Amino acid sequence: MRTDNQASKRTLLPSWQTLVEHAEEMKAMHMNDLFTQDSERFLKFSIQLSPLLLDYSKNLITDKTLSHLIDLAKDSEVEQWREKMFKGERINRTEDRAVLHIALRNRRKNPIMLNGKNITLDVEKTLEKMRVFTEQVRQGQWLGHSNKRITDVVNIGVGGSNIGPQMVTEALKHYSDDSVQMHYVSNVDGTQIAEVLRPLNPERVLFIVSSKTFTTTETMTNARTAVNWLTSSSFNQKSVAKHFVAVSANKENAMAFGIDEENIFDMWDWVGGRFSLWSAIGLPIALDIGFEKFLELLEGAHEIDEHFCNTPLEQNAPVILALLSIWNCTFLGAQSQAILPYDQPLHKLSAYMQQAEMESNGKSVTWDGQEIDYPTVPSIWGELGINGQHAFYQYLHQSNNVVPADFIGSVESVTPVQGHHETLMANFFAQTQALMSGVNEKQVRDDLAARGHPQSYIDKVAPHKVHKGNRPTNTLLMKRISPKSLGSLIALYEQKIFVQGIILQVCSFDQWGVELGKGLANEIVKELSNKTIKESHDSSTKGLMKYYCSSK
Ligand code: F6P
Repeated sequence: MRTDNQASKRTLLPSWQTLVEHAEEMKAMHMNDLFTQDSERFLKFSIQLSPLLLDYSKNLITDKTLSHLIDLAKDSEVEQWREKMFKGERINRTEDRAVLHIALRNRRKNPIMLNGKNITLDVEKTLEKMRVFTEQVRQGQWLGHSNKRITDVVNIGVGGSNIGPQMVTEALKHYSDDSVQMHYVSNVDGTQIAEVLRPLNPERVLFIVSSKTFTTTETMTNARTAVNWLTSSSFNQKSVAKHFVAVSANKENAMAFGIDEENIFDMWDWVGGRFSLWSAIGLPIALDIGFEKFLELLEGAHEIDEHFCNTPLEQNAPVILALLSIWNCTFLGAQSQAILPYDQPLHKLSAYMQQAEMESNGKSVTWDGQEIDYPTVPSIWGELGINGQHAFYQYLHQSNNVVPADFIGSVESVTPVQGHHETLMANFFAQTQALMSGVNEKQVRDDLAARGHPQSYIDKVAPHKVHKGNRPTNTLLMKRISPKSLGSLIALYEQKIFVQGIILQVCSFDQWGVELGKGLANEIVKELSNKTIKESHDSSTKGLMKYYCSSK
């Protein structure tokens, strides 16, 4: 339902209108000229935070652009919404919930009140339970049913109950002492769980069933398979309990599944799945790197929360990142954004960012249900930078579509190997320079001539070698990947996503878009099992299902 005067309140803001006009002016500019005109550009358009440096000077912006964008943030009441979030107001409007993942990493431990209750105390209680548990498992005091120590932990979960902890354990492998081996099962494709379990000894395995709702079909299916795997060896139902813990906001379902109440770690409805790695959903991280280092991860995130709350918008890194995304996508027309880590440990970061940004802000109605007639967030994709260079960077440099990209690297490698890091980082710096400056036809022709190529060859090849440049990038440079710096990096993006949602007027904390397919699958699975395909399906779906059933 859309009424004309309500249709696009954002687009009616003077700052929005100004940005629309300003974007037209800026489209005619080239970043090369902006760098030539302003020798202070790097200093002006970079932010130094203790764990990282953000350079955003390679965007098609000027002082004017930034000032208009800041006006938009102010007109959109970003500061007021930030306060509402931190105060525990129910800003997840469609689900009528507070959004308080910031409370999970509130290392100053100041009270955060929700419905008259100080939730900081609940958080601390769960953290203490995590500490005791992780120490027991890591020190070999938590024994399986045959009194053997646990050597392998399998986390069963999907979406936010999988990708956050998995991305972090991969990123922090260097900090693991291998007290236990971590494994992840998320896919309902049985191949994954079969492959994970094949080499494991049931007597030494601990399963974590991670599910906020404890209803997710994929997770429940995998959890049942895990129980069957245990009971097919020397286990009985009672001994299974020693090999299962759960993380859930739905204690009842977890207990009904057979998990001891003692072994259930709390989660709360004010923590969204994709923002939950800071909660007990992060248990696999704590098991892998130890509880103290898990706290360092929280500390790093908390530092960003403090920066986000206390820094003027002009120097506020998450705000700037959000505004640049909106500038590049909503005003300049980019439709996708690449996340390009130049640090092997961050090899799952792009996948993590996909869920974080796209599940949060990939929406087309405003929080009060009006249709949105401007682009919201881009599609997020990416890969380790070096691998990407030899795959899709051709597209980044020369396709007709401009893809803004975030380059993420570290000054030091966690695993220094003679001669490698300099080569890696040379590529890191070269790529953003090339994407920005490009190379024009005259430069190409002069270069080919200097190399002695004949004119006919130069005429033929020159157009193909032109790189227009002017492709926006942000560079995030950490000193080194550590629990703390990683915590900061993730929280920086989380708060960016929050600001995007406020400015774009979407509810960043629901995910109705995943429900439709889920509901249909629940119906279809019955038809597949009974081989009775309903005529009411469209002819394509019906045809495919019939083909599938008859081919079995
Ligand atoms: O994909 C939808 C989703 O609800 C995610 O937001 C969530 O992280 C995931 O499913 C898993 O949900 P749960 O933790 O309840 O099993």
